[in-house]
Amino acid sequence: MFDYTKNLFQAMKRVLKARKRRLPEHIRNLSDEAWLDLIIKSISEQYIDKIEFPGFPPPDLQVQFVGSDYEQALREAFIFYTFVKSHAESLKMPLRRNSRFLDFGCGWGRFLRFFWKDINENKLFGCDVDAVILDVCRVTNVPGNLSLISSEGRLPYPDNYFDFITAYSVFTHLPERLNLHWMRELARVSRPSCMFCLTLEPRRFIDFITSIPPDTNSKWYKLLSHYADHADTLYQKYDAGEVAYLPTYGKEIGRVFGDAIVPLSFIEREWSPYFALRTYINDPNHFWQAALVLQRK
Ligand SMILES: C[S@@+](CC[C@H](N)C(=O)[O-])C[C@H]1O[C@@H](n2cnc3c(N)ncnc32)[C@H](O)[C@@H]1O
Repeated sequence: MFDYTKNLFQAMKRVLKARKRRLPEHIRNLSDEAWLDLIIKSISEQYIDKIEFPGFPPPDLQVQFVGSDYEQALREAFIFYTFVKSHAESLKMPLRRNSRFLDFGCGWGRFLRFFWKDINENKLFGCDVDAVILDVCRVTNVPGNLSLISSEGRLPYPDNYFDFITAYSVFTHLPERLNLHWMRELARVSRPSCMFCLTLEPRRFIDFITSIPPDTNSKWYKLLSHYADHADTLYQKYDAGEVAYLPTYGKEIGRVFGDAIVPLSFIEREWSPYFALRTYINDPNHFWQAALVLQRK
């Protein structure tokens, strides 16, 4: 009896929360720019129009995951959000309320909160290998179904499940073995024609490593600069179509995580049995990393 009451109470709480979190039509119909303004407003106002917006982790945690915080981090995410949406339109598969969407390596959920306008919360999914950041997402009420995955494990979703997948600044950290492992896993959970948008570090990332001043204050830049003397080898690997991987952070966090520079020729060669390349943008005026649109074959 006690269990029954407890379960009923929890189910009611879930229903009430889902109701409260359903975005009203007038918000869903906002332009993307107005939506960005609202999300920026949510930095200082948790409730807007009686809707509870997702909160933010402390600024140092935001920076640790995405290199910037609050408005700057959101504006960067917005560029990718509109990139995904416009390519979905041009591939004649616009985002719909009931599209299934996965943000692979979701961090503190800056992308899930954007796609919340377009897709019902129960169809939004995020996963990450970092248990702490997923707890942060839960505490800050990031919309979507969140799952912890293991670094070389299997995704907790059925085959042919998703219509859209994003992975922003995730394959930029994986060595070749994990790159291929997760590509195959993501291919498994993609429906035919699923659109997969991701970023990769392009060749100019090696130029950047060689340009880091010795007195830099950034811990990440310092770790990267250790590889400046190996720039020739990195260029050679890249030009030969191989992943040039720097295990910058691996030892520190106890799992495989570094910086990967991935040539387009590698993707074309290794990913082509599963994904067709639709767009590759390597333009620092647009994105700091290279951005790709792929489609499941
Ligand atoms: C640079 S952060 C980007 C976070 C998020 N995509 C964003 O841009 O806001 C990289 C994310 O990838 C996650 N990650 C690292 N290795 C991963 C792996 N093997 N599988 C899935 N996620 C991973 C990290 O925990 C982290 O959240």
